[in-house]
Parts: sequence; structure tokens; C-alpha cells
Amino acid sequence: MSIPTPASLPAWPDAVATPARLALRADLLDFDADPGFAPPASAPGVRWRPDHWLLVEGGRIHGAVPGAQPPGDDWLKVDRSGSLVLPGFIDTHVHCPQLDVIASYGTELLDWLNTYTFPAETRYADPQVAAEGAMRFVDALLAHGTTSAVVFPTVHKVSADALFAESDARGMRMVTGKVLMDRHAPDGLRDDVVQAERDCIELIEKWHGHGRQSFAVTVRFAPCSTPQQLKMAGGLMRRFPGLYMHTHVAENRDEVRWVAELFPEARSYLDVYGSAGLLNERAVLAHGIWLDDTDRALLRDTGAQIAHSPSSNLFLGSGLFDWAGAEAQGVKVSVASDVGGGTSLSMLRTLADAYKVQAMQGTRLSAWKALYAATWGAARHLGLGSEVGRLEPGFMADFTVWDWAVGPVSTHRDQVARELHERVFAWLTLGDERNLQAAFVAGNRRFRRAA
Ligand code: GUN
Ligand code: ZN
Repeated sequence: MSIPTPASLPAWPDAVATPARLALRADLLDFDADPGFAPPASAPGVRWRPDHWLLVEGGRIHGAVPGAQPPGDDWLKVDRSGSLVLPGFIDTHVHCPQLDVIASYGTELLDWLNTYTFPAETRYADPQVAAEGAMRFVDALLAHGTTSAVVFPTVHKVSADALFAESDARGMRMVTGKVLMDRHAPDGLRDDVVQAERDCIELIEKWHGHGRQSFAVTVRFAPCSTPQQLKMAGGLMRRFPGLYMHTHVAENRDEVRWVAELFPEARSYLDVYGSAGLLNERAVLAHGIWLDDTDRALLRDTGAQIAHSPSSNLFLGSGLFDWAGAEAQGVKVSVASDVGGGTSLSMLRTLADAYKVQAMQGTRLSAWKALYAATWGAARHLGLGSEVGRLEPGFMADFTVWDWAVGPVSTHRDQVARELHERVFAWLTLGDERNLQAAFVAGNRRFRRAA
């Protein structure tokens, strides 16, 4: 394989806003079906177009043509030959305010929340902290190659408003909503049912369906909401069809025991949400490690998805999620960084952790399945499968441009790769945000690596 070194590539044009017609030359990788847990050599769905011009017009993908057949002079041509282009990553569970506590030492979930997370989130009552935090966060997502996300802000309405505003300003597809938590949290980090409902409705009316913004009824987790608040949340879902729901479930064994004490009438932790009318095909539940077969059947029947968060599960010592087992029972699974329980916004690092979590259980996660899950797979599970996640005509031009290798080890590993899966798997396993050259959202370049 002949691999140009990144240093030999021309610089990006200076303009941030892309002209109406952009052609970008690189190796194109995307997916048109779920590769599943099939061996890499026989996995379906892989679309590999080496050395092609990706054509972008009016913020959408227009098509692709072979490198030797460049489009006409009415296209701005940017030659990034030897780079890799993928659809932008979709992180289905991540916390904006937790950039303040990422990489905090020494605790499991409930202790970690009380020691680090809740105090940090309290500061987001301040509109300036919320605005600065939202800006830092969305720019960090883009700098890691993530162009769409399902995000927890804080309990404060202003934190959700700031996040919507920053995402909207960049034209990103964002799913978020004010966090609901009316008990078991410190002063300054609790709402009440009436005010929370009012705040949610105001945010829904302002942001849901505005540009690419979508509102999620965001229940922190069952222990932080009274039954009355869960009922109110279910009521919002019924009153405003098309909302998402976002929460945590069955992450940690002490948490599961606590939920059983708090909701003795519930069959299980998941049943607390089901009984409140919170499960449907737009529900995203992070973790789901400690579920049983009845729970998995409920997820399957309602169409709710698990946002598997391997980095967080390892860091907080929560457990090993059985991805292949869940899918075999019909559960939809996407992948998430869960920063700050997770230790990186990089979906490459997150997927590399997912590989290891599956390996611990005797399952092999191919690069195809991993990358599909973080692009079109997530889009489909979110009901966005016609908008994002593929390099297909008509899709939004949300895509990322990557170096195959950075530094001597990954450069050497790349050069000795004998076939495509080997090469892509090594890239995924060794790569991170340092490999990212640029990120485009709706055809506009929103991140460019500093020279
Ligand atoms: N459960 C409830 N809140 C949180 C949170 O902020 N992070 C994680 N990982 N789990 C939670
Ligand atoms: Zn989380």
C-alpha cells in the first residue's frame, strides 16, 4: 500500500464557510447495512471507495466520483489524497458539564456523583458558566470528530438553552433537554415538578424542531426523580409526540439495589421507566449492564435503545455490557463516550474500549461493526437514518477527514497492513483526536487541526 505522509498534503483553504460546491479527494468509508458480529471478511454493509472525490453541494452530499475523474471547474477542489473520510461520529450519551470532572480518581458511580459530579454541575446555574461550558463542549465534540450527540446538560434551564444555542450556531444535530432531578441531590441541583415542567415546555417550544435541534425529556436516573416527576415526564412524552427520552439505567450494582429500595412495586429498574410511559423508539438509556431477559424484551418491544458506554463502564468499574447478547435479543445498541464517567470524547478510543469489553466476554467486535454503530447505526436508532451517518447523496454533509496514522508506531503499523480490515482496525485502535484533520457540519468546515 502506498501511503502519503500527512506532512506532504497541502494546507486546508482558509475559509471556514465552504463554497456552494466542494469536492474533496480522499479514501471514503461508510456503511449501507449493519455488519453485525460477522467475521470481518464476510461482514455485509461495508462501502469502501478508495481515492474518490466526495462531492458536497448546498450542505448535503451530492455524490462521489473516482479520483481520476475530477469534477469540473465549478467545484472547489481540495485534494486530501491518502486521507480517510468517514461520516461524522454520533455520540449517543455524553455530559456537557462533566468536562470539569473527567478523569477524577478513585470512586464508583454513586460516590463519584456525590464527590465530583454534583458539585461541578451546581456551577451551571450561572448563565455565564453555562454559556462558556456549552461553547467549550460543542467545540470539543467537533475537535474529536463528533458531529451529532445526545447530551446531558444540567438541571438548570439555562444550561440546556446554552447548549441548544451553541449547537444551532454551528448547524449541528443535537438532542438535549433540561435534566430532571427533584431529590437525592444537593441544594442548587434540584428542581420541582411544576417548575421543571414549565421549563421543559418553554425549551420545547423554543428549540424542538428548530433547525437541527431536538428536545429530550432528560431524566437523570430513577433515584433522582420522585414518582410524581417521572409521571410528569411521561406526560410530556404523550403531550409532545416526537420528543426523545434520555436517561441512565442499570449501570452499577449498588445503584440497582438502591432503585429496588426506592421503587419496591417495580419489577425492575427498567420497569420504573416503562411504568411511567418513558420507553419508546426515541428513548436512549445509557449503560443497561445489569438487565435481565424480561428487561431486554421490554427494550425490544418498545424500540428503546441502550447507549453502550465502555470507557465509562471500565473507568467507574461498573461492569461489562454484553453487546452481542443484547442485539441477539433484539435490543438496539449504540455507542457513547459518557464523558465524564468516560475518559475521552474520542469515539475512536471509545470503540477501542468497546472491543476490549467484548473481548473480555469472548466476542470479537470488528472495525466494521464498531464504525457502523458510531455512524449510520446510531443515526438509524435515533430515527435519523435518512439524514446523517452516510456519505450518500441527499444526506447532510456531516463528515470528518482523518490521518491514517500519526507518529512512528501507527505509521509503521499502517504500512505493514495487508488488507483493508486490518488497516482500519489498527487505525481505530491506535488513533484518536490527533488523527483528525477536519470536521464538516452541513458542508461547513467547523474544525481544522492547527498547522
Ligand atoms: N447516573 C446518574 N447520573 C450519572 C452520570 O452523570 N454519569 C453516569 N455515568 N451515570 C449516572
Ligand atoms: Zn452518563
